[in-house]
Amino acid sequence: MSKEIVVSGIRSTGYLHLGNYFGAIQNYVKMQNEHNCYFFVADYHSLTTHPDPKDLKQNVFRVVAENIASGLDTEKVALYAQSDIPEIPELYLMLNMLAYKGELEKVPTFKDKVRLQPENVNAGLLTYPVLMSADILIHRATKVPVGKDQEQHLEMARNFANRFNKRYNDEFFPEPHVFRFNKEAVRIMSLDGDGKMSKSENVNATIYLSDGDDVIRKKIMKAKTDQGPHEPNSEMPDFIANLFLLLKLTATEDIYNQYLNAYKDCNIRYGDMKKQLAEDMVAFVRPIREKAAELQKDEDAIRKILKEGAEKARPSSIATIEGARKLMGINYY
Ligand code: TYM
Repeated sequence: MSKEIVVSGIRSTGYLHLGNYFGAIQNYVKMQNEHNCYFFVADYHSLTTHPDPKDLKQNVFRVVAENIASGLDTEKVALYAQSDIPEIPELYLMLNMLAYKGELEKVPTFKDKVRLQPENVNAGLLTYPVLMSADILIHRATKVPVGKDQEQHLEMARNFANRFNKRYNDEFFPEPHVFRFNKEAVRIMSLDGDGKMSKSENVNATIYLSDGDDVIRKKIMKAKTDQGPHEPNSEMPDFIANLFLLLKLTATEDIYNQYLNAYKDCNIRYGDMKKQLAEDMVAFVRPIREKAAELQKDEDAIRKILKEGAEKARPSSIATIEGARKLMGINYY
């Protein structure tokens, strides 16, 4: 039986953090043996915020290195740069004809960007979900490992796939769906309790895979807490639940249960819990950071990985574009 096709991408807009790791990369690593995986650096997507050209290469190379340091095996998956696959912008153009201004304007991530960068509301921002759909549909993928923040974009990818099928052919594109091993979507909040961990915002309350041991300790010790619960079995505020989630993801089950029981019994000491979490986090991040730093020293090796990744990703991209052109009547010769 042929393996199911998986696609996912990460924008090259900064340093990768725990949200990227637990929301996405951890799933990539678990999927790489049983699936036909295409993972890429979404460098075109990063252009919506007009990055300095001299930073772009380093950002792309770092994403590659951090993915590999997190356990991605380029023998098993195709790891490539979005801009190395010319069929992606071609499919993006085709899908743009099926995407409507009204629906794109309603996307919450677009509305957020309009609020954050009112001076730069470019068409690339508006059509961001169309390019993302092209990334996925170019391989006719069915499974897309992403964090909760991308769910709406996936819904749009399904809409565009269905719209194309309805217009040109009943089943050219399969429906892509969010995939994750745990039923619950992981959403890692910022340590100050204000929004999610992010590559470019809340930098002092976000733990990056490149953070040094002491930086990690300092950030965790400053994480927002409160007076603690006053009644047994109280519900946790979301910023406390986030610390428990991080403890669950990095500490042993015994340690996690010990603090959870202390919370339930109203005798939790957040200072102790944070010290514990800081040490578990340091032990978790250190090997990834060190391996990624090592890999980034060898730019030729990263270039080779990207080149081979693109070679693996082109054949299915070409096949999709040829099929789409034919269905649309763009076959004159
Ligand atoms: P990006 O670069 O913002 O994030 C990469 C992945 O990390 C997940 N993520 C999080 N998960 C949990 N908690 C968080 N705080 C957190 N922050 C980020 C994201 O959900 C994502 O899975 N639009 C995408 C990139 C993209 C893409 C695609 C993804 C472009 N084309 C095609 C899948 C398929 C993005 O901006 O991810």
